Amino acid sequence: MIGIIGAMKVEVEGLKKELKDLKVTTISGIEFNQGFLNGTSVVIAVCGIGKVFAAICAQTMILKFGVDKIINTGVAGSLSPDLEVGDMVVATAVCQHDMDTSGLGDPVGMVSGLNQIFFETDKALQELALESARDKDFKCVTGVIATGDQFMKDTVKGELIASTFKAVAVEMEGGAIGQVCAVNKIPFLVIRVMSDCADDGANVDYAVFLDGAAKESMEVVKGIAESY
Ligand code: ADE
Repeated sequence: MIGIIGAMKVEVEGLKKELKDLKVTTISGIEFNQGFLNGTSVVIAVCGIGKVFAAICAQTMILKFGVDKIINTGVAGSLSPDLEVGDMVVATAVCQHDMDTSGLGDPVGMVSGLNQIFFETDKALQELALESARDKDFKCVTGVIATGDQFMKDTVKGELIASTFKAVAVEMEGGAIGQVCAVNKIPFLVIRVMSDCADDGANVDYAVFLDGAAKESMEVVKGIAESY
């Protein structure tokens, strides 16, 4: 079974609507929707915004639903001049830009205990996502996505994250899902469509482009489910 996580309703509602044989279970305040998406067994959830909700959701999918893969779909802020609103990133790896024990001598972003900064996504899922995006009329690239508990609307901070982690996009859940999947040895993927450029105007762009960007990302998930 594949777990599909979106932070907000708008990021997974279009997938939920297509589920066959729907069964709903609520755990820790999160609604888990089991069913078949394009013939593939899935459980879909809106986890809520931020790393803690995302971690609760991913861990619950693993322990209670026995998912063997997790896909995180949704929107992100672009950190790259090559990525415009509407373009997609298939993450090769995720990291947590706000994890910081540098005061103790660690590199910024290192998850102490695991001694790693980056959590690599599953190659086979990356391929399926790229294949699914290939026929669509938007640009799709691979790259690192950085996660933190902040809505980024500051060019200087964004540039720092981009240069520190070689990240091309920023969001608020993928890195937490990556960490949960890594400690549980579950393959995962994060795909995000740019809703804004994480700059001064990010809040305005986000409000305008959220729906369309979220839909594009869901279309790619549908394609993955179809070919799975
Ligand atoms: N998700 C979409 N845009 C974002 C931004 N600018 N910062 C964090 N998460 C986002």
